[in-house]
Amino acid sequence: MSLDEKLRRLEKLQREAELGGGEKRLKTQHEKGKLSARERLDLLLDEGSFVELDRFVTHRSTEFGLDNQKILGDGVVSGYGTIHGRLTYVFSQDFTVFGGSLSEAHAEKIVKLQEMALKNGAPLIGLNDSGGARIQEGVVSLGGYADIFLRNTLASGVIPQISVVLGPCAGGAVYSPAITDFIFMVRGTSFMFVTGPDVVKTVTHEDVDMEKLGGADIHATKSGVAHFAHDSEPQSLAAVRQLMRFIPQNNTDPPPFLETEDPSDRRDEKLLEIMPDNPNHPYDMCDIIKCIVDDGIFMEVHAGFAGNIITGFARLGGHPAGIIANQPAVLAGVLDIDSSDKGGRFVRFCDAFNIPLIILEDVPGFLPGVAQEHGGIIRHGAKLLYAFSEATVPKITVITRKAYGGAYDVMNSKHIRGDINLGWPTAEIAVMGPKGAVEILFRREIAAAEDPEAMAEERIVEYREKFAHPFVAAARGYLDDVIDPRDTRPRLISALEMLRNKRDENPMKKHGNIPL
Ligand code: HXC
Repeated sequence: MSLDEKLRRLEKLQREAELGGGEKRLKTQHEKGKLSARERLDLLLDEGSFVELDRFVTHRSTEFGLDNQKILGDGVVSGYGTIHGRLTYVFSQDFTVFGGSLSEAHAEKIVKLQEMALKNGAPLIGLNDSGGARIQEGVVSLGGYADIFLRNTLASGVIPQISVVLGPCAGGAVYSPAITDFIFMVRGTSFMFVTGPDVVKTVTHEDVDMEKLGGADIHATKSGVAHFAHDSEPQSLAAVRQLMRFIPQNNTDPPPFLETEDPSDRRDEKLLEIMPDNPNHPYDMCDIIKCIVDDGIFMEVHAGFAGNIITGFARLGGHPAGIIANQPAVLAGVLDIDSSDKGGRFVRFCDAFNIPLIILEDVPGFLPGVAQEHGGIIRHGAKLLYAFSEATVPKITVITRKAYGGAYDVMNSKHIRGDINLGWPTAEIAVMGPKGAVEILFRREIAAAEDPEAMAEERIVEYREKFAHPFVAAARGYLDDVIDPRDTRPRLISALEMLRNKRDENPMKKHGNIPL
């Protein structure tokens, strides 16, 4: 064969690989409102940056006539490219090839990429669209999944791992995304469940469709499995690109700095207007966050789940920070099972990837009730406490209003290695709120009083004066300072600068035993 012929053969095979499962299946994919595996990569990566690997790989199965049906790439397009100019490994499952199902060869391609990403210290993004284990390959396919799960686990905390679910993701297959750091889903076309609607009907007699069982909204609001839900694939992939602006390449890299025009010494008068005069009235903590961070840009993570705690990324003075804040506008900002899980996981991501933590605190305590106790609020609340306690990145707390009870300790108090702890003059730090405290301390006295209501009110005023302010904590050094709310941004940026070279470590151990 001449060189020309060899080159023509290469071109032909390249074109064949790019066609995946063929025009007809591609058309069906588009009719379902889904993009092809390669169209998705085009949207995700910087233009023209994708370099494909393993495009000539095919399966080795001979069962059920598969020996006559070899499709180049075997249902997954894999390789590397850049996002905002930074190296990123990526695989994109091709539903037009055997429903994107995972064969031995398909799994090997993903495993190869996982090992490369780990070795070269760059993020790995998986675009999932698959019918699950390749049925014709049996246990070999299950083994392939396990190979992937293992590497997901080994890479956890070393490189960022992101899963975008853009089609079905069922059975044990859900556990690869579940181990990764962030899951993105698209309404109407992506589904995650361990057992589908038919099995559910047989086993539990419940009638439920795919969307209600494991659609994007369910996982982004109820189960907490998904961190982001969008209306379309382009929106979802654009959001992945946005997230990548805040996170580093690996656990030894600093998060990416971005020059800002927003002055570091900017005071904000609006910060005096957000909080209502009545300490029992709600306000939106997101308004405070937006006043403080660079250009008011805040990328919320897990926005639809456990709204009583806010988690997300922003920049201060150009440097990324992870923000965790109680949300007085939802359930008065109490800590409960879901918010503890959500907050704990976010803290651990930031700590693993050198992203400083800013905690904005207004928390009346843990949510009381039988459902919470029986659901294990002790176990779940302990995760958040554990996560804050073990984190060694810079940790700065601002108490805007309430910091009551155990929640005061949990939300990165000085005692669990808060680096800089600040209070607004409106901060109230005590074992409990005035009403509850007075009812316990003065129950008999109030009952015996001529006018019990007036007596209770008198005691409440007395308690407020004694405890419902930040100066007892500040007198002990539990708060480093009490600040004018308008100065919050400059004070946070100055603290972050001061902590830039922070060195802290935990005792040597194989690993801790976080109360899972
Ligand atoms: C082999 C598969 C396949 C699979 C789909 N296909 N799933 N081939 N193994 N797991 C093929 C179909 O035969 C079809 O081939 C093509 O992909 C498209 O599938 P359709 O059924 O036509 O598509 P659609 O109607 O959109 O339905 C998609 C689906 C359905 C919901 C994913 O295909 C389905 O239920 N598949 C099986 C899902 C499943 O039970 N997987 C195992 C889960 S357990 P042609 O040639 O017609 O185009 C699991 C365990 C993981 O994965 C273990 C980890 C430990």
